[in-house]
Amino acid sequence: MSASAPQPLVTQGRVSIDNLSVSFSSRGQDILAIQDVNISICPGEFVCLLGPSGCGKSTLLNCVAGFVKPTLGSISVDDEAITGPGPDRGMVFQQHSLYPWKTVLQNIAFGPEVTGRGKGSPKSTAQTFLKMVGLSKYAEYYPHELSGGMQQRVGIARALANYPKLLLMDEPFGALDSQTRLMMQENLLRLWRDLSITVLFVTHDVDEAVFLSDRVLVMGSNPGRIVRDLPVNLSRPRDTDTTVSREFVELRKTCLDLIRLESLKAFHEHN
Ligand SMILES: Nc1ncnc2c1ncn2[C@@H]1O[C@H](COP(=O)(O)OP(=O)(O)OP(=O)(O)O)[C@@H](O)[C@H]1O
Ligand SMILES: [Mg+2]
Repeated sequence: MSASAPQPLVTQGRVSIDNLSVSFSSRGQDILAIQDVNISICPGEFVCLLGPSGCGKSTLLNCVAGFVKPTLGSISVDDEAITGPGPDRGMVFQQHSLYPWKTVLQNIAFGPEVTGRGKGSPKSTAQTFLKMVGLSKYAEYYPHELSGGMQQRVGIARALANYPKLLLMDEPFGALDSQTRLMMQENLLRLWRDLSITVLFVTHDVDEAVFLSDRVLVMGSNPGRIVRDLPVNLSRPRDTDTTVSREFVELRKTCLDLIRLESLKAFHEHN
């Protein structure tokens, strides 16, 4: 597929984050984790939140997931205000969070069983997504019998099995070696294209952000805010050749400079 090949028309998964601020009370002090963030994400877009440690990436993602309540402002998905977690938003965490007492298939089937979402039975839905992540042979295994990368793939299948409009991913490949990570990134891009969903992906890895996204939102810290909204117009599908293209190298440099500046600021403020 070339860059100009028509993409399927995606109509769901529009995200609006308006004037979002989040503060936490900790040790008698109020910490302003996020200040006045405004983000608009189109249906089907792949957006990365990139920023140094502690800048508020997880807090922002958790607000969209409905796990953290904003102190000020609002978030909506397809014009529906977020008031708590819901099956329209699938979440993948940095460390896998599978149920250790359930098999791989039972882990994936659990969401559709509870929510009733999915096109067939929960078991057949689980089988479909297990196949998509290339682990059909492991249906009856328990999580501890799989490698870290395989567990993350099960985590992705589990998040997708509810047919979410929006996939939220918090540094999902952070613990993987670079080869497995690249394979997982390519696999994720294929799933994203096939399923036509919106993805909001958190990372502090510049290469990962540029490789995956349509747009990189660079965050700064103290308080957490968006310092740059950077479009990534690299052609798709992307592979290892993408990472040596002139455009990729230039975007990478822009992001690295911004992150370096923000990381230095954060380091000095914390000392
Ligand atoms: N539940 C909480 N209570 C108090 N402070 C919190 C809480 N959660 C986050 N914070 C603070 O909010 C700020 C942002 O934290 P957050 O976890 O969102 O950062 P992050 O960008 O995800 O960092 P990392 O890359 O290390 O995961 C930090 O200063 C952190 O100490
Ligand atoms: Mg985090």
